[in-house]
Amino acid sequence: MTILVTGGAGFIGSNFVLSWLTETSEPLINLDKLTYAGNLDNLATVSKNPDYIFVRGDIGDASLVPELLAKHKPRAIVNFAAESHVDRSIKNPSDFVLTNVVGTFNLLEATKAYWTNLPISEKEAFRFLHISTDEVYGSLTAEAPAFAETNRYEPNSPYSASKAASDHFARAYFHTYGLPVITTNCSNNYGPFQFPEKLIPLCVHRALSNEPLPIYGDGKQIRDWLHVADHCSAIRAVLTGGAAGATYNIGGNEEKTNLQVVGEVCKILDDLRPRTDGHSYERQIEFVADRPGHDRRYAINAHKIEQELGWTPTETFASGLRSTIRWYLDNQTWIINVTTGNYQNWMRSHYGVE
Ligand code: NAD
Ligand code: TYD
Repeated sequence: MTILVTGGAGFIGSNFVLSWLTETSEPLINLDKLTYAGNLDNLATVSKNPDYIFVRGDIGDASLVPELLAKHKPRAIVNFAAESHVDRSIKNPSDFVLTNVVGTFNLLEATKAYWTNLPISEKEAFRFLHISTDEVYGSLTAEAPAFAETNRYEPNSPYSASKAASDHFARAYFHTYGLPVITTNCSNNYGPFQFPEKLIPLCVHRALSNEPLPIYGDGKQIRDWLHVADHCSAIRAVLTGGAAGATYNIGGNEEKTNLQVVGEVCKILDDLRPRTDGHSYERQIEFVADRPGHDRRYAINAHKIEQELGWTPTETFASGLRSTIRWYLDNQTWIINVTTGNYQNWMRSHYGVE
């Protein structure tokens, strides 16, 4: 038995690969294009593991993917590969259409061709697990109930629109062809190996570099936060017990405003690595222009996965954030390696930083 993971060199994918190789004895193939967000440093500890195979390539490659499927005969595919940053999708949406929509479509096509020819028992057991986001449901008012799986899709950014489109293709391949697809919609993740363009690692990195911590708009936008290790355990639970054709929301039950999140980051840094002048890192907070079309609130109702599969998160935001910040402090070389080249170009074009 083997599974194929796509996008396994990114933030969530690499955490998933590492935990899979620790928690199971099943081989894993990682197909990743290594865009700016893919980083093999994340996987250095498993690079020589005989149960791990890395292949550099695109999920949309209509000759490579069928070859891989025929060669390794996976019993499941976990599709993490995507363009994932909302701000980049606003500046350059076309990459999001190419990977998230067309790439996922091509991957579904190749998977369907492979799956159709499997023996009946393998066909039934096969799973295509499509990793998606809560952002496809749009934006909530302060009083609205959290997103349930039955909420309608109302994506507002080019990123969430492209993820919504890929979710619709995944759904259609189950309903039309019977391909055993499951989709998960998860809230904001944080943890080790997150690229420092996303809020939490961005603020840790900039706080330590004595740079402003940019808060979009009034900073009162709300996100639900889940530690990446809990997301990975939820994905394993869905892979084991999830029903073909089902969708599962995954969340941490930890709604916070962005100001609260950045405030917490500052407090933990004040404790673990105080500024030399004795002031709090909070003095580096700076309000900047809002993100166009910025969704106000996301919140997840994760009752279904809890009731059907017995999954609940193990980490609170307070404990998870502290261990995450410790990880960034202990892994400054990782940060330095990713904050060169392409990263600097993004900082210059988005924040006007030299
Ligand atoms: P990421 O940007 O850190 O990593 C994406 C990975 O996909 C990178 O390794 C990249 O090289 C690879 N990739 C991109 N295009 C590819 C292609 N065409 N073919 C093969 N590989 C390609 O993203 P992430 O934060 O780890 O998110 C992973 C998945 O989880 C995405 O589908 C995202 O939509 C979803 N998700 C993320 C979050 C979050 O908070 N980060 C929350 C919910 C859902
Ligand atoms: P982000 O980490 O980009 O995730 P997403 O947009 O997928 O939720 O952003 C999390 C929140 O933080 C979001 O409301 C935007 C906000 N934000 C800032 O206020 N400043 C920043 O520099 C960034 C990158 C994000």
